[in-house]
Amino acid sequence: MRGRWKAVAAVVLGGMLAVSGCGGNDEGGGDASQVEVFSWWTGPGEADGLQAMKADFERKNPGTKFVNAAIAGGSGTQAQAVLASRLQNRKPPDSFQGHAGAELLDYIKAGQIEPLDSFYDDNNLRAAYPQQLLQQITYQGKIYSVPVNIHRSNVLWYNPRILKDAGLSGPPKTVAEFIAALKAVKDKTGKVPLSLGAQWTADHLLENVLLGDLGTDAYNALWKPGADWSTPAVTRALTDFAEILKYTTVEAASTDWQGAAKAVVDGKAAFNIMGDWAYGYFVNPAPNGLGKKLDTDFKYAPAPGTDGTYMWLSDSFTLPRGAPHRAGAIAWLKEASSKEGQDLFNPKKGSIPARKDADRSLYKGYLEYAFNEWTRPDIKLAGSFWHGVAANKKWHTDIDTAVGLFLQSKDVGKLQAALVNAAKNSGQ
Ligand code: GAL
Repeated sequence: MRGRWKAVAAVVLGGMLAVSGCGGNDEGGGDASQVEVFSWWTGPGEADGLQAMKADFERKNPGTKFVNAAIAGGSGTQAQAVLASRLQNRKPPDSFQGHAGAELLDYIKAGQIEPLDSFYDDNNLRAAYPQQLLQQITYQGKIYSVPVNIHRSNVLWYNPRILKDAGLSGPPKTVAEFIAALKAVKDKTGKVPLSLGAQWTADHLLENVLLGDLGTDAYNALWKPGADWSTPAVTRALTDFAEILKYTTVEAASTDWQGAAKAVVDGKAAFNIMGDWAYGYFVNPAPNGLGKKLDTDFKYAPAPGTDGTYMWLSDSFTLPRGAPHRAGAIAWLKEASSKEGQDLFNPKKGSIPARKDADRSLYKGYLEYAFNEWTRPDIKLAGSFWHGVAANKKWHTDIDTAVGLFLQSKDVGKLQAALVNAAKNSGQ
C-alpha cells in the first residue's frame, strides 16, 4: 500500500505536505436543524449512491432535514461554477463534495474549508483510512475532508457482441490496438466505435490516452512542477488522441456521460472510456439504473495501455467556513465517514470505500475486481487530472479550454502548445 501511494502523494501535494498536527475548531455547537449537501450527483447511477447514504443519515438524525443541493452535470461541470460563486459570496452550503488532491488544496489555500482534525480524533478516523489517502487531504499538518470512496477513471467498457461482429477476439490492450479495433468496428459493423458525451468526456479520454501511451511514471511526471509537455512522446499521444476522436460521434457531444455509456449497453456503440461510476448506472435496478447484466450486455477492461495502473480519484466531503448549519454538517460528515455509510453508498455508486474496513462481500462483479486491483501489491497509481487529483482548478480549466478548441480545429500542434502553456501557468 505504502509504495503504491508514495508517487501520487509526491505528485499532488509535493513539498507542501507536513507532519500531522493538532486539530482545528471543527466540533461543537451550531445549528443541526438541517444540512445542505452540495454535489453533482443528480443523474442515474450517481444519485442512487447519494440516496442510499441520505436514507441512512435520515434514520440516524431524525431532527435534521437533509437538503439535497446537487446540481446536474457530470464531473461537476455546472456545479463547480455555482459552488465557486457561493463560496466567494460567503454563502456556502453546509458540506460540499470536493476531490481529494490538488482540487481540495485550492479550497484550503483560499481559506474556504475548515480543518477536521478533532473530528477525526473524536471519531477514530485516523486509523480507518489509508495513511497515504490522508496525505492527499492534508495541508500544513491539518486534515481537511472526509473521503467517501475511491473511483477508477481508466476503465474501458465494451459491448461483447459488437466486438465479435467486428472480428475482435477481446478488448484492445494497447492504444495502437485500440485504434485498429475502432477501425474494425467502423468497417465491419456500422456501429459507433467509441461513444463520447459532453465535452468533459473528451478531457477524460485525454487523460486515459496520455496514461496509455506515456506509461504511469511519465504520466505522473506531467503534473510535477516544471514538467515538459513539449516532448515527442506527448506529441505521439496527442496524435493518437486525434485519431481516436475520428471514431466518435459528433452528435453525442450534447449528452452527458450517461448517454455515451448507455450507447454501449444498448448495442449502439462498441466502446466507452469512463470512470467506474458507469458500473452503478449499468447494473442498478430500473428506473434509476439500467438493470443490465455484466458479461452479457457489457464487459470491462483497463483502458488500453493502462493495465496494472489504477488511475484513481476520491470523492470527499468538506466543512466550509461559515457553514450555516454546522452541527448538521458534522452529522453528515459522520455519516460519510462511517463504515455503514460507505458500504451503503459505494455498491450503488460504482466505487470502493475509502475506509480500510469495508465489508468486501457487498462488492460484486466489477467491484470485486476493482477491490482486487486496488489491493494488488504491484498495482501502480496515477492521479486523475480531470477529477481533481493531479491538477488544480486553473490547470484543469485551461486544459478543458484547449481541448474545446481542439475539438473544433483538430490541430495537434496548437493543442500541444496550449497544454505546454497550461502547465507553465498552472501555479501548481
Ligand atoms: C467525478 C466524480 C464522480 C462522478 C463523476 C461523474 O468527478 O468524482 O463521483 O460523479 O464525476 O459525474
